[in-house]
Amino acid sequence: MTTTTPIPLDLQKAAKDHLWMHFTRMGGFAAADVPIIVRGEGCYVEDSHGKRYLDALAGLFSVNVGYSFGEEIGQAALEQMRELPFYTNWTYAHPRAIELAAELASLAPGDLNRVFFCSGGSEAVESAWKLARQYYLARSQRKMQMVLAEPETRHDELVAMMHTPPRRYKAIGRHLAYHGTTLGALSINGIPGIRAPFEPLIPEVRHVSNTNSYHRPSDETETEFTRFLLNDLEAAILAMGPETVCLVHMEPVQNAGGSFTPPEGYWRGVREICDRYDILLSADEVITGFGRLGYWFGSERYDIRPDIITAAKGLSSSYAAIGGVIATDKVIEPFLDATSMFSHGITFGGHPVMCAIALKNIEIMKREQIIEHVRDNEQAFRATLAQLLDLPIVGDLRGAGYFYALELVKDKDTRETFSSDECEKLLRGFLSNALFEAGLICRADDRGDPVLQISPPLVAGQAEFDEIVGILGEVLTEAASLMRS
Ligand SMILES: Cc1ncc(COP(=O)(O)O)c(C=O)c1O
Repeated sequence: MTTTTPIPLDLQKAAKDHLWMHFTRMGGFAAADVPIIVRGEGCYVEDSHGKRYLDALAGLFSVNVGYSFGEEIGQAALEQMRELPFYTNWTYAHPRAIELAAELASLAPGDLNRVFFCSGGSEAVESAWKLARQYYLARSQRKMQMVLAEPETRHDELVAMMHTPPRRYKAIGRHLAYHGTTLGALSINGIPGIRAPFEPLIPEVRHVSNTNSYHRPSDETETEFTRFLLNDLEAAILAMGPETVCLVHMEPVQNAGGSFTPPEGYWRGVREICDRYDILLSADEVITGFGRLGYWFGSERYDIRPDIITAAKGLSSSYAAIGGVIATDKVIEPFLDATSMFSHGITFGGHPVMCAIALKNIEIMKREQIIEHVRDNEQAFRATLAQLLDLPIVGDLRGAGYFYALELVKDKDTRETFSSDECEKLLRGFLSNALFEAGLICRADDRGDPVLQISPPLVAGQAEFDEIVGILGEVLTEAASLMRS
């Protein structure tokens, strides 16, 4: 009998022949190598040539504990695999989903006590919108049952309910905000470029102004800016018909466009408007949850008091594909009746191995005092990044916690931005490659005005801040002279 030695797979060739990468111009690899990342440690990853990179994007804003906990988290996954590799949350429960739900209820602010699990951020957003749509229906059905139980005394209410307004189903997001790619989540997205290929999307979503203050009139006060934003939100609700809107969905700090933080009074105002028109407020914490802003949830930092939180990424530090929707007691209430249920489910929602990994991640975050570390280092990180404001091409530094963006400008005095051709030359023609060559992973993004997004693992300290700024300083200096030439 002859034995054949297996030929090792040529990863580069196989990647080019078979792998379909996400949001990637595949044609760009006709003459260039696909970057293949093979291992990680702390805040660093290594490619197939053995070159190390400081991952100032934490994967995709998501490897919150960094890359060094594979052994420990892997052990938790292995133990769960041995005990119960899979069971579902359809009709049944299992210990890890119950424990994780209880843990999230204890970490989330206020009475956000109920958790519906799914496999990632898009599914979480999709689920939040579906939940909001069904919430109003379940609530009115519940009321109808109560009224029907006492038809004599509640006759007037019954008559009024015969003329119930149309269902609430519309959603409001913000311009440029990213909320995922499934059709529902994509419809809430406010990024024209990624919506366009899939139009018509789910209709009746409106996008209101985001909290980008950099290009507002220079004499506008913070109070005036807040008023402008809240007026815009209220005008949208009124134009859509308040009785038809079920959801306002926004990030505590908006990622796309470059870490837009809220002005003073903004979230208080958004909450008040949602209360006034009886609309559910959903905080998209897919990025901002689990320490990125120095709190378990950004909702706590800004006292948002949402009815719903969507979470994913940092929930497991991306060691597992898990997300969830966390809802208040008010939101679950109409679903607690004997004959009521949320008509929604996903096979892998609450997968026991994913839950075991998320539980271990949270245990590590507590033990390593990751949240405290972010709070203790936030000012130092910001101050280190602020050195880059001396460069002529860096117009603005914004963000909070470990979540920052630098806006790149053509003219710092007038805040003039680059044209789309110039952005193409600057970002795709130069920056992305130059940063990668220099050993730094961060994101050059021009879905709005051109920005560099910096969002490292939450274990990063001064040495990493200095390295980020050192590399950015050199590469951005070169970029500025390239754009002048
Ligand atoms: C705010 C926000 N919501 C939702 C999503 C979608 O998450 P996922 O890519 O896990 O589907 C993302 C992804 O980056 C996000 O940043």
